[in-house]
Amino acid sequence: MIPIIKPVFGAEEEQVVLQIIRSGQITRGKWTIKFKESFSNYIGATFCHPVCSGTAALYIALKSLGINSQEDVVIVPSMSFMATIDAVILAGGKPVVVDIGEDYCLDPFQLEKAVEKYNPKVVIPVHLFGQPADMEKINKICEEKNILVLEDAAQSHGAEYQGKKTGNLGDMSAFSFYASKNVAMGEGGAILTNRVSLDEKISNWIEFGNHPALNLRITEFQAGIGYWQLQKLDDNNEKRRKIAQLYNEEFKDLPGLVLPKEFEGRKHVYHIYALRHPQRDQIVEKLIENGIGARIYYEYTLHQLRGAEHLDCSFGEQVSKEIFAIPVHPALKDDEVSYIIETVKKVVNNL
Ligand SMILES: Cc1ncc(COP(=O)(O)O)c(C=O)c1O
Repeated sequence: MIPIIKPVFGAEEEQVVLQIIRSGQITRGKWTIKFKESFSNYIGATFCHPVCSGTAALYIALKSLGINSQEDVVIVPSMSFMATIDAVILAGGKPVVVDIGEDYCLDPFQLEKAVEKYNPKVVIPVHLFGQPADMEKINKICEEKNILVLEDAAQSHGAEYQGKKTGNLGDMSAFSFYASKNVAMGEGGAILTNRVSLDEKISNWIEFGNHPALNLRITEFQAGIGYWQLQKLDDNNEKRRKIAQLYNEEFKDLPGLVLPKEFEGRKHVYHIYALRHPQRDQIVEKLIENGIGARIYYEYTLHQLRGAEHLDCSFGEQVSKEIFAIPVHPALKDDEVSYIIETVKKVVNNL
């Protein structure tokens, strides 16, 4: 089976784990500092706090932005991984779900309607599948109404919007370094911001601060692996982009298939290569039968999953019935990519 995801580790990651074991300093050490500094440099944001998961990063970010009660409305897009909405619920806020657009990210036009109706405190654009959301429009709407913008950049390490990295486009951002992510630590996350007043608040939610908090720290093992993964990120993203371009070229005439599109002014890093087809279930089943780890991302919208309040999300609901993904990770060999291309063509042409 060609897996849908596969982290790519080398000698550097092996060595660093061994070094950390031998050093005896397995948490709160130099690798945590090294990762923190190199990741904030890479993204271009002033402050970076590594934590134990992406869900923890979102939760801490929301608490730091003042989300506490049902009065605090947080807008989330109809399509994302469930952690995006769960973090809002855990922080005590009220999530309101707004539809996505053709880029599979929060639709600024729908956001404008939600802002009028709900007066939200925070908006969470998710750079879904590795494509940046339309941040210029989203930021403009939020600036006018003094709404805070928290980017969910869990899937978009290295993606760019108008030349600027995702994770440095709003008031705060949250990353995940889960095993499948473009920078993989196994488990891990980070919160970034440029604002000193928010930086201090973040620290107090990670560990023993000036109010009760969970311990959500990262270990040296995660940070060491993450440091080396980060050094390889640009090369690995280029590999993902090349495979995606090849797929787009090869699949362009296949009937009924909607291919992912890189929108103008945005650099897509293809964390997930997501396609749509009305006979999605059949295609996924046949691909799996043929040894290709196809998977459905995401079968349900966030309001369906958590019964949350929402505006009209008919596009997201339609997308959730048609969307699926095929492997695009940088560990794919040329013959595996060719096999995937041939098999997808055969399966779609023979429906
Ligand atoms: C969009 C999105 N947000 C949040 C998360 C949560 O991250 P984690 O699994 O590290 O808690 C993930 C990934 O898993 C994700 O894909």
